[in-house]
Amino acid sequence: MRTIVFVTGNTGKLAEARAKLGPLGFDVTQDKGGYPELQCDSLEEVAKEGVRAVAGRLDCDFILEDAGLFVDALHGFPGVYSAYVNKTLGCEGLLKLMDGTPENGRAARFEAVIAYYEKGTLKLFKGVCHGRISDSMRGGGGFGFDPVFVPTGDDRSFAEMCKNEKNAASHRGRAFDQFVEYLKNGQSGH
Ligand code: IMP
Repeated sequence: MRTIVFVTGNTGKLAEARAKLGPLGFDVTQDKGGYPELQCDSLEEVAKEGVRAVAGRLDCDFILEDAGLFVDALHGFPGVYSAYVNKTLGCEGLLKLMDGTPENGRAARFEAVIAYYEKGTLKLFKGVCHGRISDSMRGGGGFGFDPVFVPTGDDRSFAEMCKNEKNAASHRGRAFDQFVEYLKNGQSGH
């Protein structure tokens, strides 16, 4: 078993990481020390700034992850503001912003960037999941915007899926796939 230290305060992300990496032989431990989430123009920059802060505090290799929901009809909003918008407007507020937007105009995508800090070197792994914003909240699982996001190829929201189903399609699951590939082969990432 190899241990991966995941710096996150989000128990939903932690549970997904464990569901994904546990069966592959990785023990994911949580570091709750946190880092300031600086407002940046891209997920990559937020993740890099996070690594800078955590590297001064932790004396071991670690990962952290930054994610966001990008809605086409809202010109990519909430994007890097997703955490703030989820806290303030929530899923209901997002649905209100989309009021009157027809089925064919509700495309959106989730993106996740995993930053891996390994012996002083930084590697980034990005996963994207395309889908659409539903017209109502559905399901009791997951976290954040899961009840209003339906991935392409499915009729269910992420909140209606179990963790393994979400991981198979999700931005985070795809970013973790690349991370695991890197750990196995020492390749990819940027
Ligand atoms: P952050 O990576 O913690 O900054 O996440 C930004 C926000 O995006 C979170 O607070 C959630 O509201 C939302 N988010 C990120 N990933 C997911 C996901 O997998 N499902 C639902 N919402 C998500």
